[in-house]
Formats: sequence, C-alpha cells, structure tokens
Amino acid sequence: MTQTPPSPDRYGLVGHPVEHSRSPLIHTLFARQTGQNLSYELLDVEAAGFETAVRGFGAAGGKGLNVTVPHKETAFALCDECSEAATAAGAVNTISIDEGRLRGDNTDGVGFIRDVTLNQRQALAGRSIIVLGAGGAARGVVGPLLDQGPAELVIANRTKERADRLVADLKRTGDLRAVTFAELAALPAFDVLVNATSAGLQGEAPPFPASLVDDGSFCYDLVYSQHDTPFVTWAKSSGAERAVQGWGMLVEQAAESFAIWRGVRPDTRALIAQLAR
Ligand code: ATR
Repeated sequence: MTQTPPSPDRYGLVGHPVEHSRSPLIHTLFARQTGQNLSYELLDVEAAGFETAVRGFGAAGGKGLNVTVPHKETAFALCDECSEAATAAGAVNTISIDEGRLRGDNTDGVGFIRDVTLNQRQALAGRSIIVLGAGGAARGVVGPLLDQGPAELVIANRTKERADRLVADLKRTGDLRAVTFAELAALPAFDVLVNATSAGLQGEAPPFPASLVDDGSFCYDLVYSQHDTPFVTWAKSSGAERAVQGWGMLVEQAAESFAIWRGVRPDTRALIAQLAR
C-alpha cells in the first residue's frame, strides 16, 4: 500500500503590495536545501483586513507568517508574546502560530547586521555611522547598529521631528544625534552610510552632499533592485569605496525567520550571489 506523503506545513507573507516579493522563491529554495516539507504563499491584505487574515491563516492550519509593509507595527500589537528584538523595534516581521497563539519576532535587524558584518565583512564597532531616513526601515536598523558599539551614530531625515522622535525613543546614551538634510553639508565623511529613505525612487537625485562620502566609505542601501539603486549610483559617483544594495539583508532576514520556524538555518551565500547578480 502506498502512503500519502504528509501535506506541507503552510507559511506565507502578509503585506500590501506583495506581488513582486521574492520571499516565496527564497523560502522554497531554503526548504529544498534543508529537506523541509513546507509551502509559502502570498497574502495581499490591506490594513483593515490584517487581523482577520492572520487568524484565518492560523485557523486553516498555517504555521507562520512573515509580515511586511504596512503591517509590522500592527503585528507587534496583535501578537500574544514578542521576542526582545521585536519589542525593541516595536515591530514584528515574523509570526509563529501555535494553536491560535501568536508569537512575534523581528529578524530585520539581525539580517541587516549579519549581511553587513559577515557577508560584506564591514566592522561596525568604533566606526562613524550615518543613517539617512527615520521611517519604519530606519527604526528597524538603528537599535541593532547601536548594539554594535559605533563611535557615533547620526540619524538624518528630511523631517527633523521624525528623526528627533526616533532618537528619543531609542533611550540610549552615547554619541547619537538627529540632524536635518540641510545640516549634512557641514558634516565630515562617514565610515558607514545606510540609506533608509525612498529618496531618488521617483527619479530625482538623492539630496545628499558628496562630502558625506570619502574613499574609505561603505554605503549600504536598504532598497534593492535589479539595477543600481539611486543611492548606490549616488554613492559610487561620490567616490565611496563600496556601495551595495540590500539583497543580502533580504535573504538573511528570511533565513532567520526560517530558523525560528523550522529549527534549522539555511546556507545563504549562493542565494545572495544569485539574487544580487
Ligand atoms: P519605510 O517603511 O520604507 O521606512 P516610511 O516609514 O514612509 O517608509 O519612511 C520613508 C523615509 O523616506 C522617511 O525617512 C522619509 O522622510 P520624511 O520622514 O521626511 O517623510 C524618507 N523620504 C521619502 N521620500 C523622500 C524624498 N523624496 N527625499 C528625502 N527623503 C524621503
């Protein structure tokens, strides 16, 4: 008698929009590599439908969800318990579902730090770092950056109040401050620049002075694309030593989520090389 193979455990990504997401491909390749029997689907859900979608997915036997824009803060509020990383970020990108109970985690920060320090081999301790932007993406990386012990961390934003609020929310001491874009021209070059804005994506030049960069600067764009992003183009033309986009962070945060769900950490190198090609 032939046995029916067990049905795959269900996972997915909930967000809006999600149609161009690479997460199904990434998790499918991870599952193949580690011999895990799972499926990964896309749930395109607007803000009003988030809780219903998550609970419905769990009620149908779903085991876990990644969460993306615009639901990360809502997910944090919805989860029954949250990890330290999720609590520090006030945002959840990974939900584990166990008999209707929701556990929230956030793997964006660790994914970013792993990509910068392990894949890109950039030290962060003792370096001067500037984060451009103070929205949701910036919030996800500033805490983990501070944990690495930089010499200084500057947060620059078009709207000063938002950068001030982010600094205040961090409740950290040390060399941490907020500036406006207008103040950037007076600053020296930084060792590490992180772009967390959507500046340039409408076709305009990113509004940052070239003096932020010198031939020792490492520039990292949280945005990723098939071509050089506007920030990467700006960084290269400003004379940066290296400028990379965030494919590695995407794959590393997925690997951390996969490890939380399945207890096994996939190898990320080959996939990052394939996506970033
Ligand atoms: P995300 O989740 O991607 O961070 P967000 O929370 O809307 O999205 O934040 C977008 C960030 O990009 C903010 O820092 C925003 O600056 P403001 O706070 O001043 O709005 C920044 N941003 C968006 N468009 C920009 C532009 N054309 N020039 C400069 N900064 C821009």
